[in-house]
Amino acid sequence: MSRIAYVNGQYVRHADAAVHVEDRGYQFADGVYEVCEIWKGKIVDMPRHLDRLNRSLSELRIDWPMARSAVEFVLRQVIRRNRVRDGLVYIQVTRGVSRRDHYFPPEDVAPSIVVTARATSPDAARKQAEQGISVFSYPENRWPRVDIKTIALLPNVLAKQNAKEQGGKEAWYLDADGFVTEGGSTNAWIVTKEGVLVTRPAESGILRGITRAVVLDLVQKEGLTFEERPFTLEEAFGAKEAFVTAASTLVMPVTRVDDKIIGNGHPGSVATRLRDLFHTATDLKAV
Ligand code: PDD
Repeated sequence: MSRIAYVNGQYVRHADAAVHVEDRGYQFADGVYEVCEIWKGKIVDMPRHLDRLNRSLSELRIDWPMARSAVEFVLRQVIRRNRVRDGLVYIQVTRGVSRRDHYFPPEDVAPSIVVTARATSPDAARKQAEQGISVFSYPENRWPRVDIKTIALLPNVLAKQNAKEQGGKEAWYLDADGFVTEGGSTNAWIVTKEGVLVTRPAESGILRGITRAVVLDLVQKEGLTFEERPFTLEEAFGAKEAFVTAASTLVMPVTRVDDKIIGNGHPGSVATRLRDLFHTATDLKAV
């Protein structure tokens, strides 16, 4: 079965899917995106993701390419047409196609929209979570508006590639004061020796991760102690556990940060439990 993508009003073969060379996403990274998990044939936390899309669009003064309900319909269609049961759906909206010029295009230029979906392997993800991942610190190289989920991901690409070249899966950004902000495509957490969960507040320096918010709900439901405050790399080195969260990784244990083994070098019990319970706290919509 060939993959199908949605591009500006049409469902096309993924292999043939294309945008114009003067799409502002292509030329200026002038656009935003969302990634939602598809779990057992359900879309996970779609309302929260579309709320954040709405916020990203309005911060950049890009219009919705069509009604929100129509976007929901297209997400479902793309997932169905690709027969994805477990995987990810990607939505990208840019300021549209117009002659290359830094100023916003004329009012009549419509935003562009692309939706794709692909299957992922729950087995491979489980094995990864049983093993844990290594992360490597990296100096913050992004603009301050990291709360907007823009497609301008070159800094994240460089940070994550640096981690990969050292055998890691994720980068942990360090701000000018030595505090961990977040991962290249995940939010960062530690569990202290006293068993307190710590993650940076969402006010500044991080994307307000949907998975982070769901895990915070879960943490409270489970009666675990948590603090939303910045933590340093040193504190992470001495932590009992560490993990990252994102729609693409869910709760993923971190067993090494730079050259330091975290805890006993195996995924921690708190991270593992939160991963196991994760979908009990999510909003699941039928595809
Ligand atoms: N990344 N921080 C950054 C910089 C991210 O790019 C992401 C998501 C997150 C976690 O957000 P959420 O829990 O809403 O997925 C945090 C997506 C998955 C990506 O770029 O593929």
